[in-house]
Amino acid sequence: MSDLAELKSYQAAGPFHDGEREAQLRAGVAEFALESGARSIRDYMPDQHRAFFEMLPFMVFGGVDASGQPWATLRASTAGFVSTPDSRTLRIDGGALPGDPLAGCWVPGARIGGLGIQPHTRRRNRVNGVIESVDGGVVTLAVKQSFGNCAKYINGREPAFVGNTAAKVTVEHADTLSDDDRALIARADVYFIATANLDESAGVARGADVSHRGGAPGFVRIDSARTLTAPDFTGNSFFNTIGNLLRDPRAGLLFVDFARGDLLYLAVRADVIWSGPEVAEFPMAQRLVRFHLAEVRRVREALPLRWSAVEYAPQFAESMRAAASAPEKITAPAWRALRVAEVRDESPSIRSFHFEPVDGHPLAPFEAGQYLPLRVTVPGSAKPLTRTYTLSAAHDAARPQRYRISVKRDGAVSHWLHEHARTGALVDTLPPRGSFTLDAGSPRAIVLAAAGIGITPMLAMLDAARALEPKRRIYVFHGARGEHERPFAAALREVERADPNVSAYLFDSAARVDSPDGDRLAGRVNVDALRRFLPFDDYDFYLCGPESFMRDLYDGLRALNIADERIRFEAFGPSSLKRAPARTPVENEVTKGTPVTFARTGKTVHWQPQQGSLLDAAERSGADARSSCRSGMCGTCAARVLNGSVEYAEPPDFEVEPGYALICVGHPAAGGVTLDL
Ligand code: FES
Repeated sequence: MSDLAELKSYQAAGPFHDGEREAQLRAGVAEFALESGARSIRDYMPDQHRAFFEMLPFMVFGGVDASGQPWATLRASTAGFVSTPDSRTLRIDGGALPGDPLAGCWVPGARIGGLGIQPHTRRRNRVNGVIESVDGGVVTLAVKQSFGNCAKYINGREPAFVGNTAAKVTVEHADTLSDDDRALIARADVYFIATANLDESAGVARGADVSHRGGAPGFVRIDSARTLTAPDFTGNSFFNTIGNLLRDPRAGLLFVDFARGDLLYLAVRADVIWSGPEVAEFPMAQRLVRFHLAEVRRVREALPLRWSAVEYAPQFAESMRAAASAPEKITAPAWRALRVAEVRDESPSIRSFHFEPVDGHPLAPFEAGQYLPLRVTVPGSAKPLTRTYTLSAAHDAARPQRYRISVKRDGAVSHWLHEHARTGALVDTLPPRGSFTLDAGSPRAIVLAAAGIGITPMLAMLDAARALEPKRRIYVFHGARGEHERPFAAALREVERADPNVSAYLFDSAARVDSPDGDRLAGRVNVDALRRFLPFDDYDFYLCGPESFMRDLYDGLRALNIADERIRFEAFGPSSLKRAPARTPVENEVTKGTPVTFARTGKTVHWQPQQGSLLDAAERSGADARSSCRSGMCGTCAARVLNGSVEYAEPPDFEVEPGYALICVGHPAAGGVTLDL
């Protein structure tokens, strides 16, 4: 189209193409949009916009790939990477991110929509144009349209450029949403949408466009693994996005994982739902846009920015306050990315990882002995893998913003951690949990008996016990196959030297005789070893190690008439270690409660809430129940439900098959349950 024809089109429809005009007419704002657009859409950048673009560490862009598919993308660098040599030229010096779906499309003649946004000040300005030249990493855009957008719907968070921290950024392609993708969208309070109308008839408004969409978390509804629905709120009445969609329904959506730095790019086809009862299901929505997925690209840890905590836009702040004060709902657990702050080798096969927050919020407190659930995506695994690792240091007042886990390299996730969790890497975690904790109120001396990597909770308990009651006597027994496999020996000896109330006994199962200085003792940690060094006293025993180690110790201690409740234990692998009850309850002790029947043993118990989980009940009754994490993470305790049902106080992390229940975190529903145990 000639310049003259473009000018005529501009005059007839203002700065809009016929799709935009159609949308404006349909929404009843055509006159207002024409007047407002003519006033505010310029073919140059005012000084205020130029200064604004130049101070941004990131900008959002929209463009189309070789097939005409629009994509929304980001460029990020230090402030100043965008400059404006004059009011009609935008210069972008670098900032391209790995996995950019528009890579290869930043070429002269390409039409690009740009959005400068500063979320913490809620300022945003638009600039659309045509790439004039590309020189190395420098893209020069000839500006065709520039206009400001209002502050509405922008949730505040301040970015800081930190550079890329991931050792290697990965790009994952799919045609449906993964669990991770769904989780990100479910908590998203913002997304960006790119659309385009590249038809000649669009005249001066021809080109690509990118827009911001903000809402309360979860404002984008996930209808299925391939369909999303989002509300369209009252805006500037220009209808740039919907106008484009009326002429070309393809769009590119971009969701940002602010905690992890992941970018989720979606190629979609969009339908506009102008009215109907469904619109009323979305607060404040004027209409809806339904997105049908064509392609999903997730680029992990691509964004070299870190963000402050969110401050919701005034339009959503009230609903967020109301939600916070509403009665607590049972929701799926929220994963939180933590950054690896330090990595340290403790032995050839055991490595400690320290984690710190990246979102400015404090870490959840924990009790010594608890563990940290984490999940990672391991190459070759269809789903992220979840594991739990005991926190190996108690809460440290000097470094309250740290968790430490110590991991032996012996499985897919631990292998991944050893290979990939370098300083700066992000790992998803849940708040610490677990019931293997120190009885801080007990006056008794403490015996911490561990084998191998089972020493990790004992280290946290040792720290915590000394801090809580410095006079409490503590005995640590640790067995290892040999010195080369023993972690933390020096740390234990240091504590022992500094604290006369702590004694540490280090056993070497490969040795034939004790070392002359008594520093290393030959043999295994078992009841005989304990009896050799423990004076006659009353103790709280804590055991952690492989199943055989704990079975020997537990049975041995019970044989010595140590009360069952004085022995606490935790396995670090699947375990069928069962408690031996002191005696079988007599008939008249069975008080009212919910009936739980273990079908294989034929026993029925009457469960009451204070008795703990169904796993506790199964163990007490002698049923053959297996367990590992004892907190709904691993699935080891899954038992078939033959009759009745099992309920959970919170949804467990492990997704159990229909017809089965996780008895370590479940309790019987009213009416009781029969389990295949
Ligand atoms: S023991 Fe791990 S889920 Fe129950």
